[in-house]
Amino acid sequence: MSDSKIIDGKKISSDIKNEIKLEVEKLKAEKGLVPGLAFMLVGENPASKVYVKSKGKACEELGFYSVTEKLPEDTSEEVLLAFIHKFNEDKLIHGILVQLPLPKHINEFKVIEAISFKKDVDGFHPDNVGRLSIDVDCFYPCTPYGIIELLKRSGVETKGKHCVVVGRSNIVGKPVASLMLKKSVNSTVTICHSATKDIGEITRQADILIAAIGKPEFIKQDMIKDGVVIIDVGINRVEDASTEKGYRLTGDVDYKGCYEKASKITPVPGGVGPMTIAMLMKNTLKSAKGEIKF
Ligand code: GUN
Repeated sequence: MSDSKIIDGKKISSDIKNEIKLEVEKLKAEKGLVPGLAFMLVGENPASKVYVKSKGKACEELGFYSVTEKLPEDTSEEVLLAFIHKFNEDKLIHGILVQLPLPKHINEFKVIEAISFKKDVDGFHPDNVGRLSIDVDCFYPCTPYGIIELLKRSGVETKGKHCVVVGRSNIVGKPVASLMLKKSVNSTVTICHSATKDIGEITRQADILIAAIGKPEFIKQDMIKDGVVIIDVGINRVEDASTEKGYRLTGDVDYKGCYEKASKITPVPGGVGPMTIAMLMKNTLKSAKGEIKF
């Protein structure tokens, strides 16, 4: 992709992974230290299986040590918590990731809370969420962290800009708003959600628009202003009989319509998506190096 309007997440994530790989080689050679990541997958959710496999592959490629515990659907909360306690104590493990969603009989919040916040490379533990909200060093959730890195590496000015986030999920909307608000990023932030009245009125004010709603092509051309930078977090399957698979992937933004007006835009796929795993690896490397000031 040579189009300078397009923020190429594939290229940027590959650059980050290459940087990490070099750092890991150095860390091994100089300190005999290998970053270690533990994955836990409960049940047979097909998407979760694919994600965990991709994350394990990234560990192999970058020279990380990794362990994957694949547990059956009927695993008790107690058994899962016991694995977490074991990994909390394991000196070879610097990051713990329990793939979500979990089966209904397991309390997700209780599980996240059981992970040592110093190994919570997902950035979902309430201690990390709280620390982020008061701008104290912590793990940042991987997708929001990836968004900040895309903006930085694409040379987008954030200071004093109006960033409008559409969506208030705990995984993307809220943490990305906190990150944009940090002193070091310094944007003015507005969060819109499903109960917001006249969303277009607000999104048209955005210098940076982050769409994370999970509704295909929700953001239309008449909802943005000229020159906006658009970050599209959506990955939606929509039926398309003209494709071999019978569906295509589309973001939360009407790409064709918005491309013309935007100064920069992320494509789907190949924008935000590839950044998540790269930032997970970055968080684990930071953890292994003791870089975060807890
Ligand atoms: N499920 C979907 N996204 C994520 C993620 O970023 N981390 C975990 N642990 N589970 C997920």
